[in-house]
Amino acid sequence: MSETDTYILGRTERETRRLILQHQVFGPITRRFFQAAGIGPGMKVLDLGSGAGDVALLAADLVGPTGHVVGVDMNAKILETARARTEAAGWSNVTFHAGDVREIALDTDFDAVIGRWVLMYIPEPAKFLRQLTSRLKSGGIVAFHENDFTYPPTTFPATPVSDDILKWGIPPVDESMRTWSSPSAPRGPEAQMGTKLYRTYVEAGLPGPQLMVEAAAGGGPDWPGYELLAETLRSLLPMLEKVTGMDPAKVDIDTLADRVRAAVVEKNGVHMMPIMFGAWSRKP
Ligand SMILES: C[S@@+](CC[C@H](N)C(=O)[O-])C[C@H]1O[C@@H](n2cnc3c(N)ncnc32)[C@H](O)[C@@H]1O
Repeated sequence: MSETDTYILGRTERETRRLILQHQVFGPITRRFFQAAGIGPGMKVLDLGSGAGDVALLAADLVGPTGHVVGVDMNAKILETARARTEAAGWSNVTFHAGDVREIALDTDFDAVIGRWVLMYIPEPAKFLRQLTSRLKSGGIVAFHENDFTYPPTTFPATPVSDDILKWGIPPVDESMRTWSSPSAPRGPEAQMGTKLYRTYVEAGLPGPQLMVEAAAGGGPDWPGYELLAETLRSLLPMLEKVTGMDPAKVDIDTLADRVRAAVVEKNGVHMMPIMFGAWSRKP
């Protein structure tokens, strides 16, 4: 990892599988958000921080065969998965480029620029958005979908294991979350990007965005969210051990998904994932 790489979840195959699982849970919400934002047939769309390609594939579905999607990610390895999945889905109008979104050369005729869980990794996101809009046509859409992790995963009714997860998983906001990547790094991921989207758009010179807020929630034995919760915590274990002082042995990560599932199902309860904030605006 380079010094400017703030991607704290790691770059393993397991993390790639986690991103795909994540999309099973969040895909429907992101689809509704992009539809509300106006992403539609025939558009040329730029997807930032494509990861395993889920958002680019979703965008391909929305723009259809007459549109184009260009995805960018600094992790060249994960783009191999994104390309393979795009090919398997039969799309020939989706291309991926490896590089840092802050530096890579891009076309200047996009109808929309989109991203999910990516602005949180960009230092000075308003400055970045301002530069980015030069890649957009006039009237082009800027649509980002991000979390605010101060609204943590919650089980209703609470269970002992969900109380433990809150204790383990939520470092005090502000300084500790800013230094998730490394204590000496100037800035880690922005834990509150979702609720800072409005301000970020305005500071970037864009009209105040429209907002859409939704959370993924589920219950019963078959909901994929329990695995997602456990796999996310697994990816974060090394960082959480440092920041919250949690003992990985107490987490027993390999059985966590089953324990949460059992606790939720026993009470016919529900588990709710962190709230997603979507913001969209048009370049004047
Ligand atoms: C949490 S993943 C989200 C992936 C995808 N957008 C999704 O929703 O499934 C964030 C991705 O952004 C990429 N990323 C973070 N900062 C980046 C940068 N400056 N340039 C390019 N990619 C970046 C990471 O490599 C990672 O694949």
